[in-house]
Amino acid sequence: MSLYAIGDLHLHFQSELKNPSQLHDKLWKDHEKRFLENCRSMVLPEDTLVLAGDHSWGKNLEECAKDLQYICDLPGRKILLRGNHDMFWDAKKTAQLNKAFSGKLEFLQGNYYAYGDIALVGTKGYTFEGPFYLDRFGNVTGWDEREAEHAQKLVKREAARLEESFLAAKKDGYRRFIMFLHYPPTNVIQKNSIFTKLAEDYGAEQVIYAHCHGESRFHDSILGKKRGIRYSLVSGDYLRWRPYKIL
Ligand SMILES: [Fe+2]
Ligand SMILES: [Fe+2]
Repeated sequence: MSLYAIGDLHLHFQSELKNPSQLHDKLWKDHEKRFLENCRSMVLPEDTLVLAGDHSWGKNLEECAKDLQYICDLPGRKILLRGNHDMFWDAKKTAQLNKAFSGKLEFLQGNYYAYGDIALVGTKGYTFEGPFYLDRFGNVTGWDEREAEHAQKLVKREAARLEESFLAAKKDGYRRFIMFLHYPPTNVIQKNSIFTKLAEDYGAEQVIYAHCHGESRFHDSILGKKRGIRYSLVSGDYLRWRPYKIL
């Protein structure tokens, strides 16, 4: 039994492709075919695959039907995280999604899922991504204060959802945690955040995140071990469409 993760599939079987790099970058050429082949050769029916958000470009469930069907047809148990592009997923209607896809897909947001004696906890997360102001050497000298203030509200809301997830698992007796976020736990200029603090406070063993795709963004946040926690980026293009084996 293994636990895998990958994010940012950005499927578009029915919807309009909004990211031009997906059209021109050879890393993205037939990525859904390559990912399917990799899953079929790696993921067994008893394995769990966490899809860390940005599943589809579709604007609603109807436009995502084929994309979600593709995910349903992947091998193993599938747990989905909400990404910033997942318009089909109303944050307040996670329970309805779980009901509609019962037996096929599981949606992780404020709740948790058991993997043996480990609780898989998670939420979308959020990080302030600028605009940042740079000096001529490329050092950050400031940022848009209004945008930063707005981002702070979203960070607070997502941190509360993450804590809800940890508390639900803790209440049920879980003591081991793996934490999933769609957004990275810190932005390019942060060393710590409320998300790294929650990971440390609750003793998460690993933090898995996505969202940073395109070569220039792969090192936006923490990679490797920090304060005893392993941080891993699992965006699909970073992984060359091979699911990352967590356990
Ligand atoms: Fe993405
Ligand atoms: Fe994203």
